[in-house]
Amino acid sequence: MDALAIEQAVSMLRRAELVAFPTETVYGLGADATNAHAVARVFELKGRPSNNPLIVHVADIDQALALVSRWPATAEKLARRFWPGPLTLVLPRNDVIPDIVCAGGPTVAVRCPDHPVALELLRVFGSPLVGPSANKSGSVSSTTAEHVRTSFGDRVHVLDGGPCLRGIESTVVRVEGAHATILRPGVVTHEQIAEVTDVDTYEPVYAPDAAGAMPSPGMLRRHYAPATPTRLFDRTQRRAVLDRVETGENLIILSHGIDTEHGALIRMPRDAESYARELYAAMHRADDAGADAILIELPDAEGQVWSAIRDRLRRAAAG
Ligand code: TXA
Ligand code: MG
Repeated sequence: MDALAIEQAVSMLRRAELVAFPTETVYGLGADATNAHAVARVFELKGRPSNNPLIVHVADIDQALALVSRWPATAEKLARRFWPGPLTLVLPRNDVIPDIVCAGGPTVAVRCPDHPVALELLRVFGSPLVGPSANKSGSVSSTTAEHVRTSFGDRVHVLDGGPCLRGIESTVVRVEGAHATILRPGVVTHEQIAEVTDVDTYEPVYAPDAAGAMPSPGMLRRHYAPATPTRLFDRTQRRAVLDRVETGENLIILSHGIDTEHGALIRMPRDAESYARELYAAMHRADDAGADAILIELPDAEGQVWSAIRDRLRRAAAG
């Protein structure tokens, strides 16, 4: 990306305008994180509920330090090991960031993205950027500049950095003293985090607690969902699913296990990293096909990023 494109984006951000930018996970909808007015436009454009806080992107650890009231040794270890990279840390905040970013809560989510365009943008802007995924709230995230344009048309300036290499959103980890809790699984796995610190087994948090608060308000059951009704199946149902297509049902199938060539089939990779990278583009394609339903085979492999992939698939098919 040339310096001029970055300069142009930075001057738009300074005028409280929105700029979508590529990261290694998905495209982010960027705005000046210190400007409540700019951040309000992000909530409005995404149709995001105001109780769902935004991730703040930083150029380095120093920029993160300026936003938090505590930085436990665990945070330092995690940031040193995984930044720049797909790990978001939730920490007690100070008042540098306006309330609207954190949905009025006591914590802020910070992440340093591993993408040359995002890092250059952050460095030249010199201040943190909010960056929720660049899609309408609840729908499938954008992994190409084209997906962003389809979601928002010309209401957002897009920095095109090509397709995102990791493909699903960052792992969100709350850090409290020496303890870490995974609030959203992602491409940084539980096993990798456990090498650095004590970490809770991920339990999906779908419902508010008794006080009506949600540990991570973005963890709604239905999320990352195509507009077309989406259902999951397992390997024992492959034949039955193909039979339904052959008897004339208007379906689109996403499967990493079915080998037959078929117009209704989008073949997914068998390795987790490639599957994650291609998942959202496949969901967008499936949605555009005008089928009555999308049927996705739920991978049953263990380890790597498969559990994060299953989390996204279950949410896509929920409700
Ligand atoms: O990979 C990613 O994280 C992408 C790229 C663009 O960086 N961003 C992203 O942002 O996925 P978003 O806004 O779509 O998802 C942020 C998630 C939501 O589930 C939100 O509820 C949670 O992080 N979150 C943000 N701030 C939080 C906080 N203070 N406490 C708990 N959860 C928080
Ligand atoms: Mg999102």
